[in-house]
Amino acid sequence: MTIQWFPGHMAKAKRLITTLLPKVDVVIELRDARVPAASRNPLIDEIIGDTPRVVVLNKTDLADPKITRQWLKTFKSDSTDAVEVDAMSGRGVPALMNRAVELVTRVRKARGQRPLERAARAMIVGIPNVGKSSLINRMAQKKIARTGDQPAVTKKEQWVRLSPKLHLLDTPGMLWHKFEDQEIGKALAACGCIKEAILNPVEIAAFIVEILDDRYPEAINKRFKLQDMDRTEIVERIGRKRGCLISGGGVDLTKAAGIICREFRGGQLGRVSMEAPDRLIQTPSEPSLDNDESHPLTLGVEGDDSQP
Ligand code: G4P
Repeated sequence: MTIQWFPGHMAKAKRLITTLLPKVDVVIELRDARVPAASRNPLIDEIIGDTPRVVVLNKTDLADPKITRQWLKTFKSDSTDAVEVDAMSGRGVPALMNRAVELVTRVRKARGQRPLERAARAMIVGIPNVGKSSLINRMAQKKIARTGDQPAVTKKEQWVRLSPKLHLLDTPGMLWHKFEDQEIGKALAACGCIKEAILNPVEIAAFIVEILDDRYPEAINKRFKLQDMDRTEIVERIGRKRGCLISGGGVDLTKAAGIICREFRGGQLGRVSMEAPDRLIQTPSEPSLDNDESHPLTLGVEGDDSQP
């Protein structure tokens, strides 16, 4: 499958978010807690401008809690409002709502406005599959956003009254993945942020194994009862152990890779963070929307109009 984001899709996603921004007091920028840097669209600053923002690390149930704490500390030292949540259980969601209201109050005061004049209006944005719809549903305490693949904001916006102080846009703003480095692509695919089979699953599984072997050496042994082996053999050994065999006694590596990816995404390999503040998958370079349209590794699905 040929996959790339088309300039038209990116422009449309940006236009939709930009159109809504004047109605919004605070942007809730959602990222995956396992890859907080890689799951950030590097153009977000340019897109949302000076609209106040709370960064939210979601899927913390799957991330290493120690590393998540390091991220929050780093955001704090940068004076960035950031919180952690788990949209599945709802953990951290009340704190997020309080933080969004506090931030808007602070900004209104600084601008000489009356802080409680009207409810703060929030909008959730993020790349696909970071949990935007799940978080909206969790905050609203009912199913109003569709989880899974979905188009960007297309219908007339509707505001959900979460409390007298906070209203939330019922549809998320979809950003696109953007990266210059295949390693980031592999990390996003490993975490399920890229669902399409754009990368070889065996490469993604090998990437997961590499991260685990480096940072969580016990995880593979604990789950698969395999120890002291060459990294390059691990996918094959797991396949053999799990009966992913083909005629002639060989291992179906794609099937084995599928097991590793699924179990990693489901948290069966433990709570793993692929990026720490001092150990990113890749150092971000200075982005610009101006030359974005020619970028070869910006992703989307060709011919899929449901993409932004
Ligand atoms: P999106 O709107 O940003 O595209 O993401 P969405 O809410 O659709 O969530 C993407 C996947 O991530 C969904 O799983 C969802 O259940 C899961 N998810 C969202 N938040 C969390 C979280 O805090 N923790 C964990 N563990 N998972 C989370 P799915 O398998 O794609 O869909 P489904 O089978 O759950 O419907």
